[in-house]
Amino acid sequence: MTINDLIGKYPYPRKVRHHASANLYIPIRDLKYIPTYYPPLIEDNFPNGCFGDLKNPTILDIGCGKSRFLLEFALTNPNENILGLELRKTLVEWAQNVIKSENIANAWVYWYSAVNGLDFIQKNSINSVFYLFPDPWPKQKQQRRRLFSVKFLKDVHRVLNFDGNLYLATDCDYVDEYHRKILIESELFSFVVPSDNEWNFPRTNKELFCLERNITVYRLKCKPI
Ligand SMILES: C[S@@+](CC[C@H](N)C(=O)[O-])C[C@H]1O[C@@H](n2cnc3c(N)ncnc32)[C@H](O)[C@@H]1O
Repeated sequence: MTINDLIGKYPYPRKVRHHASANLYIPIRDLKYIPTYYPPLIEDNFPNGCFGDLKNPTILDIGCGKSRFLLEFALTNPNENILGLELRKTLVEWAQNVIKSENIANAWVYWYSAVNGLDFIQKNSINSVFYLFPDPWPKQKQQRRRLFSVKFLKDVHRVLNFDGNLYLATDCDYVDEYHRKILIESELFSFVVPSDNEWNFPRTNKELFCLERNITVYRLKCKPI
């Protein structure tokens, strides 16, 4: 089955909010009160059989949104286990239903706010981390909702294996600049603008949106130092 057939078979939920509630972008430890709608932390017994081979994830898609990239990646890379992390619950439920209904054994999506870290992922176990088209949060007062930080990069650095890469994409020049600034500040990654040959991956929902409208996309391929 192609990705277009799959998406056609399972229409996306109609009413999906553009953003989740502001609290969900804040680490749970920094909240005075934990709202009932806050996504649960991922327990130590992870991965708890979420993949058919009962093994660990090998690929992470952080902020997987409508999961087109994740599903196509799983279908075209049967030897990898791809895990998506996403905080909009309706989209997570949609993806989980597709994965279960189609028996896609090498994909899973957790309802989780990645700002709480990646402690549940084993050190040096991941081949690629994808962080694609994050919410830009352009206003100064919104910027604390951005996930990309030195702390986030420390987490990604810990979970990536020695040959692994972090892949970034955005359609906002100021987000690309921000990514570069934090990467340099972290002293944990070197980075290049990848050639098309180095970016032979499925398209995300947001990337297709940009392609259709001729919107420039900024990509970075980041190597752990
Ligand atoms: C603009 S969308 C892009 C989705 C997808 N990567 C794509 O390219 O189509 C950004 C996604 O990141 C999710 N997100 C933002 N902050 C997050 C966090 N702290 N943890 C998990 N997901 C997050 C949002 O809910 C949203 O679905």
